[in-house]
Amino acid sequence: MLLNNTMKNPDILSPQFQENPYAVYKEMRDHHPLLFHEGMNSYIISRYEDVERAFKDNVFSSRNYDWQLEPVHGRTVLQMEGKEHSRHRNLLNPAFRGRDLFEKFIPVITKNVQDLIAAFPKDQKEIDFVAQFATIFPIGVIVDMLELPKSDLPKFHGWYTSIMGFLSNLTQDPAVTEAGLKTKVEFESYMLSIIEERRANPGGDLLSVLCTAEIDGVNMTDQEIKAFCSLLLTAGGETTDKALTLLFKNLIENPEQMEAVRNDRSLIDKAFAETLRFTPPVHMIMRQPLEDVEMSGGVIPANATVTCLIGAANRDENKYQQPDEFDIFRAEIDDKKSYTGAANHTAFALGRHFCVGSLLAKVEVNIATNLLLDHLQNIQFKDNEAPRETGVFTRSPKEMWITFN
Ligand code: HEM
Repeated sequence: MLLNNTMKNPDILSPQFQENPYAVYKEMRDHHPLLFHEGMNSYIISRYEDVERAFKDNVFSSRNYDWQLEPVHGRTVLQMEGKEHSRHRNLLNPAFRGRDLFEKFIPVITKNVQDLIAAFPKDQKEIDFVAQFATIFPIGVIVDMLELPKSDLPKFHGWYTSIMGFLSNLTQDPAVTEAGLKTKVEFESYMLSIIEERRANPGGDLLSVLCTAEIDGVNMTDQEIKAFCSLLLTAGGETTDKALTLLFKNLIENPEQMEAVRNDRSLIDKAFAETLRFTPPVHMIMRQPLEDVEMSGGVIPANATVTCLIGAANRDENKYQQPDEFDIFRAEIDDKKSYTGAANHTAFALGRHFCVGSLLAKVEVNIATNLLLDHLQNIQFKDNEAPRETGVFTRSPKEMWITFN
């Protein structure tokens, strides 16, 4: 039985939510911990303990990705379970969580940051941080890791934006669906010829690793590799781009914390961890329970879609002291754990699908923040105007004009 089944409010598709999701989240946690949203045809959960359980308990499958992402990516690690899932993750671990990340990819990341900073206009001391840095940087890193042509960066950017649109299409807008499906066709024809070439002449890059990898003695098919690359470009692009923008926004809004980070760079990882809690780039992730499950507020029936509100769980007052304050020194967040499955926030999910790219994101943000702070002094919002955050599924400012010396 479902308690508090309110159809009108609180509503994550309302204008009030767009303006300030955190007030809506509080209302949900306090009075509607389990809601059914008719338009989304989904149950919504918001308390930390419930969201954590949905990510960790095997009864919550990720079969929702069969319709949420497979039509645009093909089948990926996100929707796999059990042994199939761990074998695919093991393939990614060396590049994203092991030696390669630190030995091979740190120079690649550093070069991407340096090139972007060098392209800032010399005569003007202002930039749109989003357009001129954050949206280009992480996608540039993935493109380099896969050794794809850098000149095709705008193409990748367009593709991942339309794939993220497909994933976030909560109202099932047909134009968004069509754009996603068109991207699938374009990306496929682009990647298949590169995969063929890389199979013939493998190098030391991540795409060659995927082309030569064996799972249970069998090579990955072209379609599997293409799906993997499509997921990496999307999962590693828009998320890190938003995270970096939000980190700088939070620091500019809290000048004493910006000063502390500027003077002690070992605080960058803490500031990023607190940003992930306070303003997560991905606000919600779905799951599909295999049987009826009892949660706070009622029972979710088997096979229903459940929307797990990361943004709400990360502000739960039963988990954090003064959750609506940005505080890089808060006791509850341990930056040594924040990028691992033992994290004390839900921004990377938790459990078996915990973000495989979390350490890469940490290293990217650390290097970028360090070099940006070296080059830009006295960073402020242009005209002292803080940018608005927008978005429901993922959320951040669309543009962020900053000035500096
Ligand atoms: C701040 C940046 C990032 C955030 C907030 C983020 C967030 C997430 C979340 C919430 C999930 C869980 C999805 C689910 O359980 O349904 C996830 C999984 C994943 N992420 Fe990230 N991500 C980030 C960066 C990256 C990067 C840089 C990469 C790689 C290039 C990446 C690759 C992946 C992959 C492959 C998965 C699927 C893992 C699995 O199913 O086992 N992510 N990420």
